[in-house]
Amino acid sequence: MSFVYEEIIHGYPKEKRYTLAILQDIQKRNGFIPREAMEYLSQYLGLPVSNIYSIATFYKALSLKPKGKHIIKVCSGTACHIRGSGTIKEELLELLGIKPGETSEDGLFSVEVVNCLGACALAPVVVIDDKYYGNMTKDKVKSVIDQYKEERVHG
Ligand code: FES
Repeated sequence: MSFVYEEIIHGYPKEKRYTLAILQDIQKRNGFIPREAMEYLSQYLGLPVSNIYSIATFYKALSLKPKGKHIIKVCSGTACHIRGSGTIKEELLELLGIKPGETSEDGLFSVEVVNCLGACALAPVVVIDDKYYGNMTKDKVKSVIDQYKEERVHG
């Protein structure tokens, strides 16, 4: 069944104070907030679209674009930083041609830079979906990305 944002929106009272809750709900159920959903919400609440848009862009957890098939988290916590996570992050972003928070052109990967992933003993750490890759190096990162591209890694 396709995603019906009207239904979510109508589940809330027509009050401004629910704007964020509605956006969070749409995000949760759709993975991102489509432009039409913001337009529809602005009519529903009688608010300018620009208001909705600024809320949607202010909160990091909300995304206006679809996320990639795989979510890559690069740790920039202290332990990882000391052991060279910066180089790994740069390599990864260069390989995918994107910036943190963006999604690669082919829709396969989104990259997030995060703080400690709770696996400092494996530093530097990269997590792809729910899989941990420890003791990362520039070369390793490239081969892991290649494996995902070729769909050699399964959930
Ligand atoms: S600092 Fe990277 S996992 Fe803890």
